[in-house]
Parts: sequence; structure tokens; C-alpha cells
Amino acid sequence: MLFFSAASVLLVLALISHVGAEKCPEKCSCDGRKLTVSCIGKNLTEIPETIDEITLKLDLRNNNLEVLPKGAFTLTPYLTHLTLQRCNIFRVKEGAFRKLGRLVSLNLAYNKIDVLYQESFDGLSALKELQLDHNRLVYIPNMAFQGLQNIKWLRLSRNSLNNLAPEAFTGLFTLNRLSLDHNELQFFPTQTMSRLPEVTRLDMSHNPMTYLGEESVSMLKLTHLYLDHMSIQDLSDQALFGAPLLSHLDLSHNQLRYLEPLKGPKELSSLNLTGNPLYCNCFMRPLREWARVRNVKLLGACVGPPHLSEEPLQSVAPLDLRCRSRGEVLKEEFEKDDESTPPTEKPKPKGKCPENCDCDIEAQHATCEGRGHTKVPRGFPAKTQLLDFRSNHFHYLPANSFPGTSQVVSLHLDFCKIHEIEGGAFRGMKSLFYLYLSDNDIMSLDPGAFSGAPKLNYLHLEGNRLLQFPGSALALLPSLFVLHLERNAISKLDTAGLLSSKTPKLKELYLTNNTITSIAKGALDSSFLGTLHLDSNQLTEMPTQALSRTPNLEELNLSRNSIRYVGPNAFQPISQSLRRLYMDHMGMAKMSLDALAGLGPELKALTVRGNQLQELPDLSPLTGLEVVDLQENRLLCDCALLSLRRWMENVTFEIIATCGQPPEIKGQKVQDVPVFKSCPENLSPPNKKVVTAPRPPKVKKPKASVSKASEVKARPAKPKAKLPKPTKKKPQMKPLAPKVAKNKNTVT
Ligand SMILES: *[C@@H]1O[C@H](CO)[C@@H](O)[C@H](O)[C@H]1NC(C)=O
Ligand SMILES: *[C@@H]1O[C@H](CO)[C@@H](O)[C@H](O)[C@H]1NC(C)=O
Ligand SMILES: *[C@@H]1O[C@H](CO)[C@@H](O)[C@H](O)[C@H]1NC(C)=O
Ligand SMILES: *[C@@H]1O[C@H](CO)[C@@H](O)[C@H](O)[C@H]1NC(C)=O
Ligand SMILES: *[C@@H]1O[C@H](CO)[C@@H](O)[C@H](O)[C@H]1NC(C)=O
Repeated sequence: MLFFSAASVLLVLALISHVGAEKCPEKCSCDGRKLTVSCIGKNLTEIPETIDEITLKLDLRNNNLEVLPKGAFTLTPYLTHLTLQRCNIFRVKEGAFRKLGRLVSLNLAYNKIDVLYQESFDGLSALKELQLDHNRLVYIPNMAFQGLQNIKWLRLSRNSLNNLAPEAFTGLFTLNRLSLDHNELQFFPTQTMSRLPEVTRLDMSHNPMTYLGEESVSMLKLTHLYLDHMSIQDLSDQALFGAPLLSHLDLSHNQLRYLEPLKGPKELSSLNLTGNPLYCNCFMRPLREWARVRNVKLLGACVGPPHLSEEPLQSVAPLDLRCRSRGEVLKEEFEKDDESTPPTEKPKPKGKCPENCDCDIEAQHATCEGRGHTKVPRGFPAKTQLLDFRSNHFHYLPANSFPGTSQVVSLHLDFCKIHEIEGGAFRGMKSLFYLYLSDNDIMSLDPGAFSGAPKLNYLHLEGNRLLQFPGSALALLPSLFVLHLERNAISKLDTAGLLSSKTPKLKELYLTNNTITSIAKGALDSSFLGTLHLDSNQLTEMPTQALSRTPNLEELNLSRNSIRYVGPNAFQPISQSLRRLYMDHMGMAKMSLDALAGLGPELKALTVRGNQLQELPDLSPLTGLEVVDLQENRLLCDCALLSLRRWMENVTFEIIATCGQPPEIKGQKVQDVPVFKSCPENLSPPNKKVVTAPRPPKVKKPKASVSKASEVKARPAKPKAKLPKPTKKKPQMKPLAPKVAKNKNTVT
């Protein structure tokens, strides 16, 4: 009896002491509400022993642990997240993670692990993500990841893997993403990969493979395959036969000269061949034709033959992919020459070139760069494709300035002091694709300036003195794709420049560093426009109206304007398409809590660096973000910022945000300050109704508003994953972790 009551007293004491100050190891910081312990960069050589048993997240990065012994974490069986990156670990003993049946995420990146044992990860039955990148693994043995019954993403990038045992990934029935990039694999590990029935994304880029043979890839659910930056010279048309669902194949930056249509994938939508030395002759025709019929987007450009060099593969018509005999080539050369030389002269296929210029007949380039010409030289070889006149002194381009240049694809006229272009100056340039007129003195453009060059796709007019958007001149360029107008003096965009009617195919528009103060509704209407740079202008309001009919806008740069306030629904019209949004250095003092309404997982990048923001809208719907920059603001670190702080805990990449106020914690990282510990439970984002008037705010300290019960997202905090019960006997004295969590702030 006596013994029993002594035990009860002990139990009560234990509970009391637990409710009071949690035990927190020396050198570590602990958050008793979130049940997190972090001991970052403390040169620890052992895992601290006094970590509270109910801890959920343990961050030990940047220490000096070297060896993880068997059962290293048996005292903390409720861990869901364990971070051990940069800990100088070279050995993980068998059974090191035993008892961690609730662990969801394990980060072992940036260590020195060179060997895995068969039971290294034994017991991690709930694990979803394992990071083993930046280690020294050379070989993965059979059954190395046995027991990872819930694994979704295995990251083995940046090791030195040159060999994977055939059963290395056996048993990973739930794995859907595997990263093996930046290793030393010389062959596609066909057999090993065929053991992965659920993998949809496989990243093999940056491995030294040279060849992919028939049926190399046999992965029935694979949709995304990255084979870029390797040394592939040959790829069998049957290589992907066993990947019927493949939709994205990245073969960029390999050594492919040509490629045959791929057998197997029925739903391929994108094939990236950027950075391959593609030779666009008749051997490429079947691929081009196949891509057209199947609607496969081809990325990449031809390196030859010369007349197609730099031409995007996607824009070459199948019939232009020809193999010509030597005789035909010569005949054509004579005919072309005849066009531009008087019939009395003997045709000279080689050797003609204007004075004070260099013509490379083989390469079909000609240059007169920086030779002090004051008139455009004439009489280039008829097959010239690139004409370089940079840095001369033309001042004025009269009509018909470029006779006999019907094959020229690329014309360089930058730094030529041009201030006027007469209508028809480029007449006859029916192949012109790239035109560089940057850094001249052009103040306005004649409406006929570009007549006769209908194929022009890329037009560079940056660094001129244009006062207006040259809408009418552009109307003659139906194929215009990319337009550079940076560093001009355009002060407004009005409906006269209307994109939709003048340049219906325009995809990228660069207006950086003009003096734009207003954009008329309708001026930017275009169902094609994807990239719009309006940064370094003088806008004072969000151009929301002007963007109401740009349904495919993906990238918007508004940095360095003076937009102090971003009102509700500012991006609603483009919320479906927007991927990247930049709003740095705008003097922004406030964003409505609904400013980003409508944006969701599609948004990949968001920057608001260098503003005056004290608080931010709820970013939690933006689950797809990969780049976020919140630095150099005046974030007020009190409970109003709690939802941001929670969200930061939740994302998988590092976000830097520093407190601007109150003064005593100015400059500290939002993640590190303790103020949030004392925030009331279940605090929701501040009441939305408070901010409705779209008025620039007086900068004053926002109050933390404790929400009414109805507004709380009525969901008790719970761990991310449905976790299995701990396998071994339940601890008797302490409640299970999730129950504790319910009464605290948040878990994930
Ligand atoms: C870390 O500890 C090791 C010995 O355990 C010592 O040699 C080293 O100087 C320490 N480094 C720092 C930065 O304290
Ligand atoms: C194609 O590859 C290039 C070079 O690797 C890359 O920059 C580009 O983003 C890729 N495009 C797509 C659509 O995957
Ligand atoms: C804008 O143009 C001016 C003059 O050309 C230049 O000095 C300045 O650096 C440019 N700013 C940006 C952001 O490009
Ligand atoms: C956006 O604009 C800013 C300011 O001109 C510039 O510094 C930045 O590089 C731009 N970002 C992108 C991705 O274009
Ligand atoms: C954290 O992530 C989970 C799952 O991705 C999500 O359901 C939850 O709302 C997020 N919490 C916060 C505070 O963003």
C-alpha cells in the first residue's frame, strides 16, 4: 500500500512537471506547444538524452554526430520529423531508427554516408520522404529500403552511385517519386526500376549514360522522366516501350543528332530536346511529323543545316526537313546568285563579299561589325543567313536597305545610332526571324517599318527612346513571339497598341525600365501572352483591370514600381495561369488579406522582398511554391503573424523572413523568435471583414484579432499522416502525442 501511494505521488509529480516546464536539453531550444526541439549547429557529438519523449519534430542539423548507433531514437518514439542533415554522419548502424513508427520525414542529406545496410531503415513504416542526397553512396544493396511501407519520395541525388542491385528498391510499393540525378550511373538500371510499380516521376539527369537501348525503361505508371544533361548519343525508338503513360520526357542537353518517333508512350505531351546538336534534315522528318500528328510539344532548336540553324524544331515544317544531293545544292546556289547579280556577270558562287566586311561562305555568316560604315553595305553571298552590322553609324535606314538577303534569318543592327527607319527598310527579308535593333536612338517607328519581313519572331528594341508602344508597326508582324522594349521612354499603354489585334501570337513582352504610369483596360488583352515584365516603371496601382483578359499569363514582374497597396483579388483574373509573381521593392505597405485570392498550388514563385509589409496574406493555399522571398520587410512579429509562422514550418524549403518589429526582436528570423509561444490557441488569420476598403493604409500596428469560433477552420490540429499506433507497448504515464497536440497549438 505504502509503495503504491508513493508510486501515485511520483506519477502525479511526473505529470505536473510535464505540464510545467518540459525538459529541454542544454544547447537546444524547445517549443512545448508544437512539441518541437531544435539543436541546430551546436557541434553535438551525441543525440541529447533528455529530449522529451513526446517530441514530434527534432531538428539536429549541423552537428557532428558521425555514427548513428542502433536504437538511437528509442526515447522519442513519437517523432514525425527528424532532421539530421550536415551532421558528418558516415555510418548508420542497423536498426538506428527502430521504434520510429510514426516518422513521416527523415532528412539525412549532406552527410558522408557511403554504405547502407539492409536494415538501415527498419521500423520506419510511416515514412513518406527520405532524403539521402549529397552523401557518398556508391552502391545500393538489395532490399536496402525494406520496411518503408508508406514511402512516397526517395531522394538519392548527388551521391556517387554507379551500381544499383537488382532488388535495391524492392518492396517500395508506394513510392511515386525517385530522384537519382547527379550520380555516376552509366546504364539505365532497367531491372531495378521495373520493381517500382507506382513510380510516376523519375529523375535520372546528370548521369553519364551514353545509350538507351530497346525497352530500357519499363515502368508502367511513369509520367515524368528526366534524362537531361547526360551524354546520350543514341536512343532506340523502342527505349520507352514499357512506359505507356509517359507524358513528359526531358532529353535536353544530350548529344542526340536526331531521334526517331518514340514507340510506347501514347500520351506524350512534351519532349524536350533543348541543347542537343540536332541536325534538321530528312532523318528528323518522321519525328517532326509524328509530333505534329500526336500533338507532342517539341522543344529544342536545329544546329544545322545552316539555313535552319537556331530554328526551333517545333516551327520547322516537316517538308523543310530535306536531304539534298550535292548537285541540287550547287544548282540552288547558282539560281539564288542569279537573282541578285546582273545576268551579264559570270555567276560566282563563292567569294563575293562587300568591302570592309567578312563573309564566311561555309558558315553562311557575314559580319561588318564596328567598321565605321555609314551606309548599309550590299552584295552579300545569296545564301547568307546571319548578317552582323553591330556598332556602325547608319543613323537612317531607307527603304530596301537589304536587297538580296532573302535567306537571312538573323540581322544584327544594335548600337548603330539609328534614329529613323523608313517604311519598307526590311523589304524582301522573307526569312528574317531575329532582328536586333537594340541600343539605337529610335524615338518612333513608321507603321510600315517592318513590312516585308512577315516571319519575324524575335524583335529587340530595348535601349531606344520610344515614347509609345509601337503598336501599328508591329501589326505587320503576325508571328511576333518575343518583344523586347526595355529601357525606352514609354509612359503609358493605351488601347492603340492593343496586343490582341496587332500581335496575336506574342508570348513574351518585356517593358522593364520605361516610365509607364498607366495601362488602359484592354491594352494587354491577349490570349497568348505568357510573360510580362513591367518592372522598374512608375505604376502606382496594381494593373488588375488591364490583366483581366490575359488568361495565359504565367510570369508577371512588377518589382520596382511604386505600388503601396495591393487590394483584394488583385490577381483573380490570372489566378488560373499565374506561375511566377515578383513584387520586390515596390514600397508596398500593405497587402489585403485577400490580395492573393484565387491563387493556389499552381503558383511556383512569389517574391515581395524589400517592401514595408508588416503582415502578409495567408499563404497556405500556395502549396506548390518553390521560391519565396519575404526578406527586408517590416514584419510585425506578434500573434497576427502566427499563421505565416505555421505555414513556414510546413513547407519543404527554407524561407527567410526576419522580424522588423517590435524593436527588441528586430532582425531575428521569424522561425527563431519565441513570441508565438504565448499566442492564444486556435488563432485564425485576422478577421477578413476588417480590411475591405481598397485604400492605402496608414501604417499602423495591426492588432492581433482573435477570431470567433465560426471562423476557425474547424479542424483539430492533427499530424499530417494517418499514423499507425506505436508498435510496442504504450507509455503509461504520458498521453499519446496526438492527444497532447489537440490541446496545443498545432502539430504540422
Ligand atoms: C567541435 O567539437 C570538436 C571535438 O568534438 C572540436 O575539435 C571542434 O573544435 C569543435 N568545433 C566547434 C566549432 O566548436
Ligand atoms: C527544356 O530543357 C531546358 C534545358 O534543360 C530547360 O531550361 C527547360 O525548362 C525545359 N523545358 C521544359 C518545358 O521542360
Ligand atoms: C534603367 O535604365 C537606366 C538608364 O538606361 C539605367 O541606368 C538603370 O540601371 C536601369 N535600371 C534597371 C533596373 O535596369
Ligand atoms: C523582376 O524585376 C526586378 C527589378 O527590375 C529584377 O531585378 C528581377 O531580376 C526581375 N525578375 C525576373 C525573374 O525577371
Ligand atoms: C500544412 O500542410 C498540410 C498538408 O499539406 C495542410 O493540410 C495544412 O493546412 C498545412 N498547415 C498550414 C498551417 O499551412
